Amino acid sequence: MAPLTRILQKHGLKFLLLFLLLGGIYYLYGYPTKYQGYAPDQPIPFSHKIHAGEVGVDCQFCHTSVDKSEHAGIPDTATCMKCHSQIASDSPDIQYLRSSFAQGVPMRWNKVHDLPDHAHFSHKAHVARGFDCVQCHGSVEKMDKVEVVAEFNMGWCVNCHRMYTEQEHPAGNNTMVGITSCGTCHY
Ligand code: HEC
Ligand code: HEC
Ligand code: HEC
Ligand code: HEC
Ligand code: HEC
Repeated sequence: MAPLTRILQKHGLKFLLLFLLLGGIYYLYGYPTKYQGYAPDQPIPFSHKIHAGEVGVDCQFCHTSVDKSEHAGIPDTATCMKCHSQIASDSPDIQYLRSSFAQGVPMRWNKVHDLPDHAHFSHKAHVARGFDCVQCHGSVEKMDKVEVVAEFNMGWCVNCHRMYTEQEHPAGNNTMVGITSCGTCHY
């Protein structure tokens, strides 16, 4: 025992720091995901399975700014009324939708995905790059209620950025290395 106690006395602080460092890395990169599986209820049960799946409405018909700005955008009620001024009149949910539209009260959709403010994401950059919604959001057109599908933590973002950096530029000649630096997402 004696040698162990001596090692601990001499190096205990270093062990502690190493432990904290490993813990920190685990927390940032491997931490069991905070958001994966999150699927909040909505004021009325809007179904992507009906709209994007069965009816076959294009994602960008409703999420109009996904290729133009950071945010994909959530459609206003006027977009819904393009169809629901006619369709499904018997449904209490549609009657609620119409009456809130008539009163000019916006629907209060609960956010499903929500990164902390210190982390920046841009739809425009990823969509322009050719990524499909399904790569990050899963098969939304099969969901009655939208759910966070990806790990959705820092490790998830950084792993993909690292993969693309390596794929596109062999080591030593790496001009895309920028997307793995902290300042890309934290500014
Ligand atoms: C008819 C309009 C409409 C269409 C078409 C549509 N969406 Fe949506 N989408 C909405 C509305 C309204 C919400 C907010 C309510 C909710 O979360 O279900 C939403 C929410 C979402 C969310 C979650 C937003 C958040 O808060 O994080 C994602 C992701 C999403 N849509 C992706 C898609 C994808 C991918 C497609 C195409 C396969 C698509 N949507 C097609 C209207 C639409
Ligand atoms: C392109 C046309 C179209 C648009 C735009 C559209 N819907 Fe629909 N919606 C439909 C169709 C078609 C159905 C299926 C109707 C049925 O089964 O009787 C439906 C069904 C629904 C239902 C289920 C109604 C029920 O109780 O059976 C809800 C709720 C709904 N839509 C909400 C919305 C909301 C909210 C928006 C806007 C974000 C929206 N819809 C935009 C076409 C549309
Ligand atoms: C590279 C991954 C990635 C791709 C590809 C992607 N998204 Fe997202 N999406 C995200 C992230 C990350 C967030 C959360 C952003 C935040 O909270 O700031 C998000 C949030 C959303 C939201 C919530 C509202 C908003 O304006 O941000 C909607 C709606 C959405 N995405 C729709 C789409 C649609 C539709 C597509 C395909 C055209 C798509 N996304 C492609 C990663 C992605
Ligand atoms: C599926 C792979 C993938 C995922 C997941 C991903 N990214 Fe990216 N991201 C990329 C690629 C590739 C680029 C470089 C795009 C280009 O060529 O300009 C990029 C570029 C960016 C940029 C630079 C945008 C600009 O304006 O130049 C930011 C910021 C960014 N990503 C943030 C994030 C964040 C935050 C997440 C996680 C929430 C994330 N990304 C998830 C692949 C991904
Ligand atoms: C590709 C985008 C991206 C890059 C590059 C990136 N981060 Fe992050 N970072 C994120 C996202 C997204 C989150 C939020 C994760 C969450 O909420 O689970 C985050 C969270 C954090 C947090 C806070 C953890 C918390 O619990 O809120 C710290 C600290 C952090 N990052 C530091 C760094 C440092 C240091 C670097 C450079 C070595 C870096 N990040 C590079 C996207 C990125």
